Amino acid sequence: MFFITTAIDYTNGVPHIGHAYEKVLTDAIARYRRLKGEEVFFLTGVDQHGQKVQQSAQKQGVAPADFVAGVTEKFLALWRKLDISNDAWAATTDPLHKHCVRAMLRLLWENGDFYKAARAGHYSVRQEQFLTDKERGPDGEFGPEWGEVVLIEEENYYFRLARHRQWLLDLIDARSAAGRPLVTPEFRVAELRNAVEKLAGDLCISRPKSRLEWGIELPFDENFVTYVWFDALSNYASFAGYDPTPGADQSLFRSRWPALHVIGKDILVPPHGIYWPIMLKACGFADDDIPSLLVHGWWNIAGEKMSKSEGNIVDPDALADTFGVPALRHYLLADIAIGRDADFSEERLVQRYNTDLANSLGNLLNRSLSMAKRYRAGSLRRQPDSPLAGFVAEKVAAYSLRMDAFDTQGAIGSAWEIIARCNAYVEESAPWQLAKDPEAAGRLDGVLYSLAEAIRIVSILISPFLPAPAAAIRAQLAWDGPLHMDQCAWGLLADGHRLGDPVPVFPRIG
Ligand code: MSP
Repeated sequence: MFFITTAIDYTNGVPHIGHAYEKVLTDAIARYRRLKGEEVFFLTGVDQHGQKVQQSAQKQGVAPADFVAGVTEKFLALWRKLDISNDAWAATTDPLHKHCVRAMLRLLWENGDFYKAARAGHYSVRQEQFLTDKERGPDGEFGPEWGEVVLIEEENYYFRLARHRQWLLDLIDARSAAGRPLVTPEFRVAELRNAVEKLAGDLCISRPKSRLEWGIELPFDENFVTYVWFDALSNYASFAGYDPTPGADQSLFRSRWPALHVIGKDILVPPHGIYWPIMLKACGFADDDIPSLLVHGWWNIAGEKMSKSEGNIVDPDALADTFGVPALRHYLLADIAIGRDADFSEERLVQRYNTDLANSLGNLLNRSLSMAKRYRAGSLRRQPDSPLAGFVAEKVAAYSLRMDAFDTQGAIGSAWEIIARCNAYVEESAPWQLAKDPEAAGRLDGVLYSLAEAIRIVSILISPFLPAPAAAIRAQLAWDGPLHMDQCAWGLLADGHRLGDPVPVFPRIG
C-alpha cells in the first residue's frame, strides 16, 4: 500500500495558496500512484489544538471547539472544490486521535521516556516554545518572528529526545546509503543532519492547563495538556489505525505503514525530521518503519513571505472561483520545481492557462475531433503504424520517471511535449489538403487515428493534475477504458471507434 500524507493545517487562520499547493501536489502524486495500479491511502486534515487557536477563539469571543469547527469547514469545502482525493480526514479533536495520543503518551511514560522538571525562561507565544540565546538576533533581542515573548517559570514534562541523537544520525546515513533517503530532495538531508548534530536538549511535551486548556490531557497528569506538535505529528499514525494499547488489533495499520509525509521546508527541522522519528523510535518502531519526507518549497509574493501581518495572503478559493480549478491546479503544479521556492503571480497563472490549456491542449482536442467529425463522421480506421507512436512512448517513459521522482513540473513538461508534437503534426500533415485528394484517404485515416490516440494517452497522463478536464476529454473521445498507466500503450482505440463531439474544455481567460 502507498500511504501518503500532507501536513495538517493550522486552524487558527484561513487556507492560503501554500496550503493549496501542498494538497494539490500530494493529490497529484496519490492519483499517479493509483494510475499505476497501486492501492493508495491518502490522508490530510487539520491541526485543531494549541495556544494560537485558543487565542484566536478568545479574540472572537467563541469557544475553541466552535472556532475550529468553522475554520475546519472552510478547509474541507476548499479541498472538495479543488478535487483533492483524500481517503481519510485527520481532525485532531477526533476522539479516535485523542485515544491514540493518550495511549502513546502512556506507553512512553511507562517506558521512562518522560521526566518532570521546572524551568524558567523566555517563551514565544506565537511559536509555542521556550527560547534560548540561540534564538536572539544580532542585536540581542528576539526577532519579530517570535511574536510576543514572555518570561515564565513552570513545571512541565520533558521527552528524553537527546539520547536518540546518534541513532537518528545513523538512520539518516543508512537510509541515504540504501538509496531510500529519509528526506527528498537530497539537498535537505544535509540540512537535517546538521540540525541533528546540534541536538542537545530534550523536548517539552506538556503545557500547564493554567495557561492552555485547548489540548489533549496527559493521561498521567490531569493538570497538563499535550504540546501541540506531539499531538499533531501523531495524526499520521492515529488516523492510519495505530493504537499502542496492549492487545489492540494493528493489522490495518501494519498494512498501511510507513507513510510518505509531504511537508513544507519550514517544518522539516525540528518537528518532522527530529521529533517525529524519535517519537516513533521510542514507541518501538523499527528503523525501516520510520517514514520518509518529501519537502517542498514555498510560494512567496514578490520574494517575500506570505503573512497575515503583511496582508499579502493569496486566497485559493477566490482564485478557483475567478479562473477555475484547472487553471489553479495546473499553475501550482507546473510553475514550481519540486523542493524549490517560487513567486506567486496571477498573471503567470492566467498566462499558463491560456498558453498550455486553452491554446495548446484545447485547440489540439478541438481541431482533431472536428476534423474527424467533418471528414469521417467521427469514425476511426485503426492504423498499426504512426509517426507519433515512438515519440509518445518515449515521453510516457520520461513522464513516469519524473512522477516517480515527484517532479510534477517535469512530468507536465513531458505531456506537453506530446501535445506540441501533435500540433506540429497537424500542420505538417495538413489533413484539410489530404481530404481533398481521394488517393490520400489512407493517409488521412492515419493522421486522424494518430491524433485521437495521442490525445487519449495525454488524457491519462494529465489525469493526476487535471482530473475533471481529463475526464471530459475521455468523454469526448468516447473512451471508457480503465484509468491505468498500462493504457498508455499505443493503438488501443479499436478499428471503427466512434469519437464524440468536440466541446470546448478550456475556454480562454481574458
Ligand atoms: N500545523 C502544522 C503542521 C503539523 S503536521 C503534523 C503547520 N501548519 S501550517 O498551516 O502552518 O502549514 C501547513 C503546511 O503548509 C506546511 O507543510 C507548510 O510548510 C505549508 N505552507 C505554509 N505556507 C506555505 C507557503 N507559502 N508555500 C508553500 N507551502 C507553505 O505547520
